[in-house]
Amino acid sequence: MSKTRNILVTGGAGFIGSNFVHTILESEEDVKVTVIDKLTYAGNLRNLEKWKDDKRFQFLKIDITEKEKVLSLENELEIGEIVHFAAESHVDRSILGPEEFVKTNVLGTFYLLELARKLKEKNKLKVFLHVSTDEVFGTLDHDGAFTESTPYAPNSPYSASKASSDHLVRSYFHTYGLPVITTNCSNNYGPFHFPEKLIPLMILNCLRGKPLPVYGNGGNIRDWLYVKDHCLAINMVMKKGKFGETYNIGTRNEKTNLDIVHTICDLMDKKNPEGKPHRNLIQFVKDRPGHDFRYAIDPKKIESEIGWKPKYKFEVAIEETVNWFLENRAWWEEILSGDYNLYYEMQYKAIN
Ligand code: NAD
Ligand code: DAU
Repeated sequence: MSKTRNILVTGGAGFIGSNFVHTILESEEDVKVTVIDKLTYAGNLRNLEKWKDDKRFQFLKIDITEKEKVLSLENELEIGEIVHFAAESHVDRSILGPEEFVKTNVLGTFYLLELARKLKEKNKLKVFLHVSTDEVFGTLDHDGAFTESTPYAPNSPYSASKASSDHLVRSYFHTYGLPVITTNCSNNYGPFHFPEKLIPLMILNCLRGKPLPVYGNGGNIRDWLYVKDHCLAINMVMKKGKFGETYNIGTRNEKTNLDIVHTICDLMDKKNPEGKPHRNLIQFVKDRPGHDFRYAIDPKKIESEIGWKPKYKFEVAIEETVNWFLENRAWWEEILSGDYNLYYEMQYKAIN
């Protein structure tokens, strides 16, 4: 096997996938990265613009639900490692229309596993890392945290589709001896975050003087992970993780949604004083159906077995995130001027 890391990154034009490409290409020389992505509403080649002329990088527009195209990659590319981000990722969209979630997250993962099986038969595959979510564990009450042995109890079509894909991945280890690893992480935030998700939505609505829709009473809790810490963790797990195992990734950073919105409003008061006080924009709206109350990750396994720990403190990373959106106006203006607004109007009506 060659020394060069030949990494196939699925969903690399999305939020976390593109951050992963940045992490790898900024930190490693002897690497070739091939991104495959369907470029759905959430995929954006602008996220990867920096690398378009770099010899270590290439992009192929591929839908992972197209079986023949996925399987033919075996002959078309040198692939030593696969890191699988491609998915439909937004819970609210899965409530409005679950079908794409089943197709991409379940069937698409299945075809990639079949590709991986062919690569393994030829002794080419070093690792298949499947990126999953803590939402597969369902919801927590006020106490405790998800560990790697918490039973699965998904509550939304999104999390159920991710849970299905996790089970398929597990089965390919036990049945075919595929070198798979699954990571289950908590809510990410940072650069390139698509503005349908809580943090970027609140930043951009503050900037535009629009209402800040908080579901229910804002008391639901998420465990926020800076995307750059997450990408470093994934790379370490690809190098040091044990096949057939799962690793939870989180940074013990639980916040209520209202805490998050207040933090963003207060930062925006400093950075965008003409909109002050931004907290006046908060509107409590109808709750998300089946809204999980609390997620919390116990990261002891990845800390002790892989030696990963976060580099960024929440206070620093959230300010860096707000600054990124202030400094990258063209990126989000292009998104907000497209079809996305139609979806947002529709979703906003559905929850009110
Ligand atoms: P995202 O929605 O920003 O990006 C998903 C990417 O996958 C997009 O580029 C999209 O074009 C691509 N894609 C979708 N369907 C495809 C298909 N059929 N074929 C090829 N490409 C397709 O998502 P994200 O937030 O970057 O999440 C990446 C992964 O991490 C997902 O698997 C998600 O379940 C998981 N995850 C995300 C979070 C989070 O907080 N964002 C947390 C835990 C786990
Ligand atoms: O936990 C990991 C998961 O985090 C990932 O698997 C998903 O892909 C990712 O989208 C994210 O899911 P959430 O549903 O937790 O993220 P979202 O940003 O949609 O919502 C975060 C919280 O904020 C949630 O409790 C719902 C609430 N919310 C969200 C939006 C969009 C609001 O109150 N108002 C909003 O407008």
